[in-house]
Amino acid sequence: MLSVTINTASNILLDILSKYKIEKILDVTYGEGQLWNNIPKDNYNIVSIDKDKNSKAIHKINFADFKTNERFDVILYDPPYNFQKSGFQMNMGAKLVWKDNKTQRVEFTPTEAIENVRNLNKLAFEVLNNDGLIFVKVSDARFKGNIFAHHAIIIQELSNFNLKELIVYVKLNNMVANKEKCAHIIHGYWMIFQKRMIKS
Ligand SMILES: C[S@@+](CC[C@H](N)C(=O)[O-])C[C@H]1O[C@@H](n2cnc3c(N)ncnc32)[C@H](O)[C@@H]1O
Repeated sequence: MLSVTINTASNILLDILSKYKIEKILDVTYGEGQLWNNIPKDNYNIVSIDKDKNSKAIHKINFADFKTNERFDVILYDPPYNFQKSGFQMNMGAKLVWKDNKTQRVEFTPTEAIENVRNLNKLAFEVLNNDGLIFVKVSDARFKGNIFAHHAIIIQELSNFNLKELIVYVKLNNMVANKEKCAHIIHGYWMIFQKRMIKS
């Protein structure tokens, strides 16, 4: 299903969570945990991972190295959106958030983005229950003058999963992009993936 909304990322997560019966969540890019700010966290059992030593995650490791016998209902993936040397001020809203929280600016490359999603494809297949879901929040980016369609890469690389829902959201309280080359800044995607029964 495709939907389009004007909203904040956190409100959309709240809506998505309310639609499913979920207990255990593995958040593999926890950062400051800001996505959880408006959400009653006590309703969920959340295991948090982030490779940034300054993050608020419980496990400060690359999620690719996470080993567990636990099984989860959902994996949450919110990859970095500050790509290196993007050439102009992309993601201005996101940048301000990081600064306000005195968090390091996280920079990413397309190679890392692709490697991450391949690792996610493997990890998620192992640790999700059979009816498990991946929730992805992602924005496209500009890298060295070209658009990096991060959402499309994720759909392509999550080969053990089917895309069940695609939500395009225009970021609330963001500026209006009147030039095509800035259009990727003001919208983002939430995607819900469902585990396939057979590993690809
Ligand atoms: C956009 S931020 C996440 C923000 C977070 N969801 C929040 O609400 O505060 C992306 C995070 O992904 C983390 N990250 C990127 N690749 C990772 C990996 N392979 N393993 C663990 N953390 C990773 C970065 O360190 C960064 O903190």
